[in-house]
Amino acid sequence: MTRPLIPQKYSARAIVAFGSMHRHIWFKVSCVVVTLCFFYLTSSLYSRPTSFLSRSIWEHSSYNDTDLNIQHLTRRRKNQQQTPDLLLLLVTRDSDSWGTLPNGTHRSFTSLLTLLHDASIDFSQTSLAILTSSPSEIDLYSSLSLNEPFSRVSLILHPGYLNPEEATNRGDRHENLAQHKRRSELAKLRNYLMLNALEREKHIVWIDADVYNFTDGVIPAMIRHTTDPSVGLITVRNHFGESDDNDYDLNSWSGPRTSPNEEEKERLLEDLSSWVGSPREGNQNMGDLVRQHPDDNDMFRLDAVGGTLLYIRASLVRQGLSFATSYLVGTSWAGEGWDGIESEGLCVAARPLGAGCYGMGGRWDSHHSTG
Ligand SMILES: *[C@@H]1O[C@H](CO)[C@@H](O)[C@H](O)[C@H]1NC(C)=O
Ligand SMILES: *[C@@H]1O[C@H](CO)[C@@H](O)[C@H](O)[C@H]1NC(C)=O
Ligand SMILES: *[C@@H]1O[C@H](CO)[C@@H](O)[C@H](O)[C@H]1NC(C)=O
Repeated sequence: MTRPLIPQKYSARAIVAFGSMHRHIWFKVSCVVVTLCFFYLTSSLYSRPTSFLSRSIWEHSSYNDTDLNIQHLTRRRKNQQQTPDLLLLLVTRDSDSWGTLPNGTHRSFTSLLTLLHDASIDFSQTSLAILTSSPSEIDLYSSLSLNEPFSRVSLILHPGYLNPEEATNRGDRHENLAQHKRRSELAKLRNYLMLNALEREKHIVWIDADVYNFTDGVIPAMIRHTTDPSVGLITVRNHFGESDDNDYDLNSWSGPRTSPNEEEKERLLEDLSSWVGSPREGNQNMGDLVRQHPDDNDMFRLDAVGGTLLYIRASLVRQGLSFATSYLVGTSWAGEGWDGIESEGLCVAARPLGAGCYGMGGRWDSHHSTG
């Protein structure tokens, strides 16, 4: 006779006990789940700026350039229907780069997000890319951008190419040389960001970190002008603070500039700071040009543009257009030229690509922070 698996006299009680043990386990499991949910919800609601949900809609990738100690972080939205067509670019050094409002309030990355929310652009069609030299800033951009509906966010932590001594300008005999060094460095950082961040976008817009306001709809208005294929770069008038009279960005202009004579050219080869270009009679700044072009649809040609709020047609960058890391104007086999560094070299370099620089007339403008 075979023995039953559970002895007859115990089986009923054993089954009851087994059942209650089961309930016990389920009770414990439920408790653990409820507790975890509670902790998760409270922590995501109160102590962390980003929730699990906002993390899960992104695909992350990162890589480090270990030679130069440059870190890259890219985040793209999953299941995108369309590729983004606008790339917004910014460079910051640290938290001071955002400037202050005319009333003295310090700006931050959050101020940029507010500015962009008011700018009538479709975030789902927009990529944002920022290069900074500050580890704490990049952490901030990384966490705060998680909750924004951008198509892609690219962040680069870049220590810069100058050594700390050079960066503080000490030892430069002339202000000209310091300025040259500063703008060359900025050109390299802008190019690093632009050339790394650009993917399939058609339109690039540079915004200076301390621009605290611009006319609502200015970015879509710039893009509308690009239906004319000869329009390559576009900028608008920039004011310092609230005033609507002054011109802050003196790098945007049209007309003649001085150039060195033969003797001065010889000296420039020895000493880059021995001569500096300036506007010549007939040169016009943005203020002059906007007054002559009062209609919002007006455009006028520029010979140089600043980077304050600057549109660049992306196809030009794919052909090699970039910020000038040296004085482009006057460059020869013998050495560097004497004018047209950083953004001021852009129009010179765009010309052989068949693209012109333009300013927008009418009410379009931007405001630069005062501190
Ligand atoms: C890049 O470097 C940072 C800091 O050293 C490190 O935290 C990160 O994990 C690195 N990323 C990759 C992809 O190696
Ligand atoms: C300064 O202006 C900003 C924007 O207009 C405003 O949000 C902020 O509260 C103001 N701060 C002070 C101290 O008035
Ligand atoms: C930006 O300009 C608009 C329109 O002129 C104004 O309403 C708004 O308060 C300004 N924002 C800031 C931060 O100054």
